[in-house]
Amino acid sequence: MMAHLQSSPVETSHEFTFSDHDFQMISELANARYGLFLQPSKKALVHSRLAKRLRALNLASFEDYCSLLNKTEGDAERPHLLSALTTNVTHFFREIHHFDFVKDVLMPQLIEKLQAGNPVRLWSSACSTGQEAYSLAATLVAATSKLSQYDIKILATDIDPQVVQTAKRAVYPTEQIATIPPFWRDLLTGSTRPQSGEFRIDPNLQRLVSFGELNLVADWPMKGRFDVIFCRNAAIYFDKATQARLWGRFADVMVEGGHLMIGHSERLSGPAQSAFKSVGITTYQKLAGPPAPTGTKDKGDRN
Ligand SMILES: C[S@@+](CC[C@H](N)C(=O)[O-])C[C@H]1O[C@@H](n2cnc3c(N)ncnc32)[C@H](O)[C@@H]1O
Repeated sequence: MMAHLQSSPVETSHEFTFSDHDFQMISELANARYGLFLQPSKKALVHSRLAKRLRALNLASFEDYCSLLNKTEGDAERPHLLSALTTNVTHFFREIHHFDFVKDVLMPQLIEKLQAGNPVRLWSSACSTGQEAYSLAATLVAATSKLSQYDIKILATDIDPQVVQTAKRAVYPTEQIATIPPFWRDLLTGSTRPQSGEFRIDPNLQRLVSFGELNLVADWPMKGRFDVIFCRNAAIYFDKATQARLWGRFADVMVEGGHLMIGHSERLSGPAQSAFKSVGITTYQKLAGPPAPTGTKDKGDRN
């Protein structure tokens, strides 16, 4: 699964000693726990990203850092490792075509489903600090004024506990909405007024979203099926086998005809490709019919 690391001399040009062995240990841990794929060419980047952790922990070398990660006391450090190795960059209405698609194409169908008394579930599956989930909530509100009458909910999850806390707080710098169209800006803020350079998400949007921690490469506790899944700009960090498994697992937890939105630089791959058809830019619909030959349903899945 992991690329073979070429042996090269111990890195001495940086602040901390970082041997190939240390790099291999970190990349194996990041791959096994989080599905991350750290190519050998990323060694210098990993050094610079983790140097601040070594300083914060007052450690002298990456060998000490690796040995901490391998101990029980390393439990508290692993989320910091993950945060350092991935980026939480996100913004409101990022890749806006997905939100237009939900509003203009999906919501008319989903409203019919809701009117027939059925639930509708959406999942922002690598939600970072919450902007994606709240943009989705604003999109639903934009599509119908009768939302409160329906059983419609957004689940928003991320592996990083810190970003989930920020998302739940629902308070953001006003500058984050300075450049988005006023129509969307007004929906995000509702009647709340920005104060001291910050604004609060309209409580009517907030109550549509439930946030939680979830590792996409571990077990998923959810039992229901999703009509829409956003998984954007997270799978890009995973190796190919993990990506292929993930697309298959999404197919397994979606309703027939459900939609999957992925990031602009991501592509569906592996056996799960045959479970979906492309219906727009990085937008896929799960095909109806017999279960697709994803062959990827993990033993741990409880869905
Ligand atoms: C670049 S952000 C993308 C946020 C948002 N989806 C967007 O496109 O704007 C990537 C997010 O993926 C999360 N992530 C990385 N590995 C993950 C994993 N194994 N399980 C769940 N989330 C993960 C990171 O914590 C980060 O918040």
